[in-house]
Amino acid sequence: MARVGIFFGTDTGSTRKVAKLIHKQLGDEVADKPVNINRCDADVFAKYDILILGTPTYGEGLLPGLTAECSEQSWEEFSPNFEELDLTGKIVALFGLGDQVNYPDEFVDGLGELYDLVMDVGASVIGRWPIAGYDFNDSTAVEEGEFVGLVIDKDNQASLTEERIAHWVEKITSEIGI
Ligand SMILES: Cc1cc2nc3c(=O)[nH]c(=O)nc-3n(C[C@H](O)[C@H](O)[C@H](O)COP(=O)(O)O)c2cc1C
Repeated sequence: MARVGIFFGTDTGSTRKVAKLIHKQLGDEVADKPVNINRCDADVFAKYDILILGTPTYGEGLLPGLTAECSEQSWEEFSPNFEELDLTGKIVALFGLGDQVNYPDEFVDGLGELYDLVMDVGASVIGRWPIAGYDFNDSTAVEEGEFVGLVIDKDNQASLTEERIAHWVEKITSEIGI
């Protein structure tokens, strides 16, 4: 069984594409295919040692909620499940998508929310990412001068996406030794 589970929320599909690129780089031996969180129950993380969780940001700095594509559940609806979860001992790497030009004051805040949710239930978060190369005013996803996970801005910096993913996947695999 693959040791890494990849889960994402999305509205317009970009976060799914990034999840697929991360999966492709890790390979089937290491990671199972990415799963939309809209299909998941609370116990979905149990079988993995390592989780990669991704989210866009919507509604002025929030996790994605109900949309046309995702009519039953997204991170917002899944998030109460964290109250019952214990992620102690799990290694978690996070990635977030956002738009630094139109939302410079709440850039990738959804990533910050996801970080708080997993930290509150004991996860060990790896895969921090430099803020250099982005231009924004504020973000709840920044802690001690770094993003708490990979940040992708497909709206304004699409040409950097693959290179950023490649560097980040190298970084997390070396941090966990897989
Ligand atoms: C209505 C709306 C609100 C958004 N709010 C934010 C925001 O507060 N912060 C941010 O960084 N990006 C924001 N975005 C940008 C999206 O997070 C970004 O386009 C992302 O790539 C979408 O991912 P998805 O295709 O997986 O849904 C917003 C986009 C829309 C359409």
